[in-house]
Amino acid sequence: MKENIIPHNFSVSQNERSDLKEQKPMLLWFTGLSGSGKSTIADALERALFQRNMHTYLLDGDNVRGGLNNNLTFSPEDRTENIRRIAEVANLMLDAGLIVLASFISPYREDREMVKRIVGYKNFIEVYVNTPIEICESRDVKGLYAKARAGEIKNFTGVDAPYEPPMAADIEIDTSQISVEDAVSLILNEIDDRAK
Ligand code: PPS
Repeated sequence: MKENIIPHNFSVSQNERSDLKEQKPMLLWFTGLSGSGKSTIADALERALFQRNMHTYLLDGDNVRGGLNNNLTFSPEDRTENIRRIAEVANLMLDAGLIVLASFISPYREDREMVKRIVGYKNFIEVYVNTPIEICESRDVKGLYAKARAGEIKNFTGVDAPYEPPMAADIEIDTSQISVEDAVSLILNEIDDRAK
């Protein structure tokens, strides 16, 4: 905390807000390569939670980088700052009692640890979308792998920038092996277990 910044203790607590919603706030963090299926699964999961009357919010790479983080590049330092800001935003949303879904490449292990420190370990579910790069590249939905291979994009994750896989993700999904529906079921089971 910065000098002369003294937080106010407001009277309505996170527990009171989440009790009102009858849901346990948690952050589902999707990490994986571009084109691995992070956003597709997060989107389908949010729909499933919504159908259960859960109050959610989805934070996604391209969306956040178009607004809040539009001054950040893909340098290692800026990726870290990207993830730090997102973690702080997610933390505010958890405090508001929401179930937050966050879909970001988040290639650095240390940055994902930082997220856990910021939001609290018990609130955090790490979903590693471990689809092989050959499959991600063959999909190339946005044409970015082709540009990266042609040298038109620098520091592209998996091509000329690193991706450090999680050592012990809570859930690991390879979208070339299981369907989106099955992936959603797996995550819903984990959410149910955590909510007990
Ligand atoms: S990071 O690494 O967590 O800060 O990245 P993130 O905020 O998730 O943004 C990833 C999306 O940005 C597009 N894009 C790139 N990705 C990786 N490397 C480079 N150099 C790059 N340039 C642009 C790309 O569309 C990513 O979206 P997804 O949804 O992951 O495909």
